[in-house]
Amino acid sequence: MTAKISLRSVTKTFGALTALDDVSLDIEDGTFLSLVGPSGSGKSTLLDLLGGLAKPTSGEVLIDGKPVTGPGLDRGVVFQQYALFPWRTARANVEFGLEGGTLTKRQRAERAREFLDLVGLSGFEDHLPHQLSGGMKQRVAIARSLAYDPDVLLMDEPYAALDSQTRELLQEELRRIWKRTGKTIVFITHSIEEAVYLGQKVAVLTSRPGRLKEVVDIDLGDRSNADLRSAPAFVAHRHRLWELLHDEIRRAA
Ligand SMILES: Nc1ncnc2c1ncn2[C@@H]1O[C@H](COP(=O)(O)OP(=O)(O)OP(=O)(O)O)[C@@H](O)[C@H]1O
Ligand SMILES: [Mg+2]
Repeated sequence: MTAKISLRSVTKTFGALTALDDVSLDIEDGTFLSLVGPSGSGKSTLLDLLGGLAKPTSGEVLIDGKPVTGPGLDRGVVFQQYALFPWRTARANVEFGLEGGTLTKRQRAERAREFLDLVGLSGFEDHLPHQLSGGMKQRVAIARSLAYDPDVLLMDEPYAALDSQTRELLQEELRRIWKRTGKTIVFITHSIEEAVYLGQKVAVLTSRPGRLKEVVDIDLGDRSNADLRSAPAFVAHRHRLWELLHDEIRRAA
């Protein structure tokens, strides 16, 4: 079976600076992969390559076995900052990705409503971004990236700016959405806890130049525990990742 996403000896340089060095990684269809690494380790660069916003200097980036040649509706990207149009309502922001497609105006509106509901924003369809909280804006961005039904969701620290309660809520929602839709998700975070909570696997990059240090499989056993984050399996995974990252940060210092 071909992997959904395949990086083959990917190197990305910016002039004399090597941001990613010989990264090879296969991500199977339907996988939730968290990506962690020190600041400057090339995480956003990697996501840009997957999103088709940049090209590798050498090596190959494949989706469904085909080289990525540019952005496409098979991939939804959620950036750290809320990339919403300030003059468009929540619904019109979600509809944006659907314009130019095959849906009628009415179908677009219906679909936008459906996905705003999915992220818990029913009743806020007609609000403008400035009338929404940070977490709500981020949810609109997530709804927008989901609405055109991409196979792959690429998320670059989408929750970094949120308070911890909202963040946990959105983590739960994202897992629920992932379970329900079976999408392949690549989720960048600086939070080890978030990486462990969300990911089936956590990929760790080294300090610059970013190489793939390790891919850790996450198995938390019974996830129904109300205090999952304190469960022994969770703590053990968190500690392991902390060691891997700490190693890198110390090496770089
Ligand atoms: N367009 C660019 N031009 C020049 N250098 C770049 C460019 N984009 C990234 N870099 C460099 O590549 C390296 C990796 O950057 P990248 O943004 O991928 O890191 P990151 O892991 O996402 O870091 P952070 O955790 O701080 O977001 C950095 O040294 C950065 O300065
Ligand atoms: Mg980054």
